[in-house]
Amino acid sequence: MRVSVIGMGTWGIGGGYWTPDYSNDNGWVEALRKGVELGMTLIDTAEMYGGGHAEELVGRAIRGFPRDELFIVTKVWPNHARYDDVIRSARASSQRLGTYIDLYLLHWPSSEVPICETMRAMERLVDDGVIRFFGLSNFDVNGIEEARKCLSKYDIVAVENRYSLLHRVDESSVIPYVQRNGMLYLAYTPLEKGAFSNNEFLKRIGAKYGKTPIQVVLNWYINIDNLVPIPKAGRVDHVIENAGAMGWRLSREDFEEIDKHFR
Ligand SMILES: NC(=O)c1ccc[n+]([C@@H]2O[C@H](COP(=O)([O-])OP(=O)(O)OC[C@H]3O[C@@H](n4cnc5c(N)ncnc54)[C@H](OP(=O)(O)O)[C@@H]3O)[C@@H](O)[C@H]2O)c1
Repeated sequence: MRVSVIGMGTWGIGGGYWTPDYSNDNGWVEALRKGVELGMTLIDTAEMYGGGHAEELVGRAIRGFPRDELFIVTKVWPNHARYDDVIRSARASSQRLGTYIDLYLLHWPSSEVPICETMRAMERLVDDGVIRFFGLSNFDVNGIEEARKCLSKYDIVAVENRYSLLHRVDESSVIPYVQRNGMLYLAYTPLEKGAFSNNEFLKRIGAKYGKTPIQVVLNWYINIDNLVPIPKAGRVDHVIENAGAMGWRLSREDFEEIDKHFR
């Protein structure tokens, strides 16, 4: 299975926490379509985003693109972590997306539902052809191990956690674990909400390559094995900039200088 080295996030596209927003549907669809055209073929969404409207917009955006070149990730909210609810949620997400789900994640650990119950539902969804793979979001290594112990037929293939140059807690724990186990790590909030845009240090490095600070940061992530950043893709100009982080490489020296600078 191959996925793009940079993906697209959809939090805030089509609404917020369980609340749809229809005010910019065409703009959001255009941004996502542009991103796919430019090669960011992994799209991250969730049933919670806009109460399902983000999934509907993703479904609209991917229409007409070869399905097997896309990798669609969506998530079940922990209030739906019971076996029957996971099945129902996945089917509803798939319907809104208008296609099967490549990767289905438990969005956050549930404090009420035993993880094995949720994992059993994930295995059933693979057997039913609703999802291809499943994984976890916002889990630490212990949580991942606990979930893996429940599985008899399939394994977890991906973990999606917060990671950026300014938020590096997973570097000594979940990221090496994921790499050792041949899983995918999806790094959310990789741009820290745009915080790197005017960074003078990154501007200086970027000038050598004719790249912006954001493109330098995203390219830095590409150097980490098995890690795919998923910056939000809500605007065409941002999407074009983010896609410009692909197709070239920072030198080893610059990679290390950036690493040190943000430590
Ligand atoms: N699993 C989870 O629990 C979880 C949690 C949070 C996020 N996520 C996923 O990860 C994705 C990314 O995280 P995020 O949205 O929190 O943070 P982010 O992508 O790091 O930052 C989003 C912000 O950066 C801006 N932006 C995007 N591209 C830019 C560019 N080229 N230049 C300047 N600003 C740019 C966006 O602007 P606009 O708003 O103007 O587009 C938005 O304000 C989400 O969209 C979601 O899919 C998952």
